Amino acid sequence: MRIVHDNLLDALQAAETKGLLDLFTERRYCKKEIIFFPKHTENYVFIVKEGRVRVYLAFDDKEFTVSILEAGDVFSTHTRAFTEALDDCTLLICSTENFSRMLIDYPTFTHYLINVLGDLLKNCFTIIINLAFMEAKSRLRKYLLSEAEEKGVYCKEGIKVEIGHDLSRIATIIGVSRQTVSSLVNEFCRMGILERLNRKTILIKDREALQNMDKQ
Ligand code: HEM
Repeated sequence: MRIVHDNLLDALQAAETKGLLDLFTERRYCKKEIIFFPKHTENYVFIVKEGRVRVYLAFDDKEFTVSILEAGDVFSTHTRAFTEALDDCTLLICSTENFSRMLIDYPTFTHYLINVLGDLLKNCFTIIINLAFMEAKSRLRKYLLSEAEEKGVYCKEGIKVEIGHDLSRIATIIGVSRQTVSSLVNEFCRMGILERLNRKTILIKDREALQNMDKQ
């Protein structure tokens, strides 16, 4: 039978699967409470019954939110993520082993897992892209500033910097792809910081903005 309910909680509460809820234990958590730390000793799968749960990765002083779970969403304790109650929360918790058996009997439940995992993946992609891109941006910014300092020619409009034949040389020097350098230079041009005078020359129109970019 096809399950057409909106989320796993609804699906479990449906008459034909009601017995499955007996495999879960209900637990409450207060707002701001850390629910599970990474790689919690017990291997659980949990469903959010009430409230919102933040799933995040943390290292040193940095935190990256990878998902905000809402009622009906499912997650597990066998990950490197922290889970934190954003509101007063109620969770339905069961062993991963039991949940795994449930999936064999009700394969359509995997649909709800894909929803959560898809969201998680989307946010992880965003984080990776931002990290990689910010890193490249910072390297290009520093390279242009040092070139301006060493070989830049000051003129009324700003500082002219010779970049060689094309952007490939910069790409090799700062260790990112030519396409990335090209899209970053275009972005800086759109921001009014740079101008491509010709293939070989870049004009730094706003040195201060280039200097302060990382502080934003
Ligand atoms: C059906 C029962 C499940 C089984 C048997 C299972 C099994 C596994 C295994 C073997 C790993 C690799 C662990 C490692 O390499 O240390 C893993 C990782 C993972 N699982 Fe599950 N899982 C289940 C349910 C779930 C559910 C319901 C979710 C969330 C919706 C989930 C999310 C994850 C995530 C995010 C990871 C990556 C963890 C990390 O590397 O930080 N799993 N799972």
